[in-house]
Amino acid sequence: MLWKNTESGYSLVGKLLHWVLAIFIISQIGLGLYLQYAKIGVADLYLYGWHKAFGMMAFSLIFLRIFWRLSTASPQPLGAQTFQAKLAISLHRLLYLLMVVIPLSGWIASSASGFPMSYFNLFPLPAIAPVSEPVETAFFAIHDVAGKLLIVVLALHMAGALQRHFIKRDATLRRMWF
Ligand code: HEM
Ligand code: HEM
Repeated sequence: MLWKNTESGYSLVGKLLHWVLAIFIISQIGLGLYLQYAKIGVADLYLYGWHKAFGMMAFSLIFLRIFWRLSTASPQPLGAQTFQAKLAISLHRLLYLLMVVIPLSGWIASSASGFPMSYFNLFPLPAIAPVSEPVETAFFAIHDVAGKLLIVVLALHMAGALQRHFIKRDATLRRMWF
């Protein structure tokens, strides 16, 4: 079980993609909220560059993950016909959708702002939208709302995983671990 999932378990690649992206995404939420709510001085402007570059790195991994996900079976949530299992499937779909909408809207909004973007000062990141204030405002609004929705969905996702592990004591969290 290096590459392909089976009907009952995740492969090593599946687990790595899940946990590496979990770390990326949770850190990005923290950094994004800091950028939005803290009073950032000129000396800390590099944090915007970090958020954009790590966000693009996460976006590449998300593509890889979706490609991989479509190419292999995926274990069904335990307790297949229960309300909780159906809810888990819907939340997973929503998580995949948000994992695309959030970095893409951030990339479009940042392009529309006209500030040059770079990948850790190594090479420039291409702009994918024309410089335009309405486009910038609209896509930052999408980035913001989708980011807040992600926090709620993730809270439910994590609560579900912990409830199954500590209260129901089923194998859900164990089979996603190594
Ligand atoms: C510490 C936080 C997290 C915990 C404890 C956790 C736990 C889990 C567990 C146990 C599963 C397997 C569910 C099953 O086998 O039925 C799972 C699947 C999944 N998780 Fe997480 N997760 C966390 C963070 C995240 C993050 C940050 C994301 C992305 C935004 C995410 C997205 C997903 C997705 C999309 C699946 C479904 C995988 C598939 O079958 O396609 N998780 N998670
Ligand atoms: C996994 C990827 C990402 C996540 C989870 C994420 C999440 C967030 C969150 C929660 C915020 C705070 C709410 C807001 O102000 O919109 C934020 C702000 C921001 N994000 Fe992202 N983001 C990601 C990727 C990106 C990318 C790829 C870019 C640009 C290339 C970007 C550009 C920005 C900018 C410029 C802000 C600050 C907006 C402000 O000043 O209020 N983000 N992000």
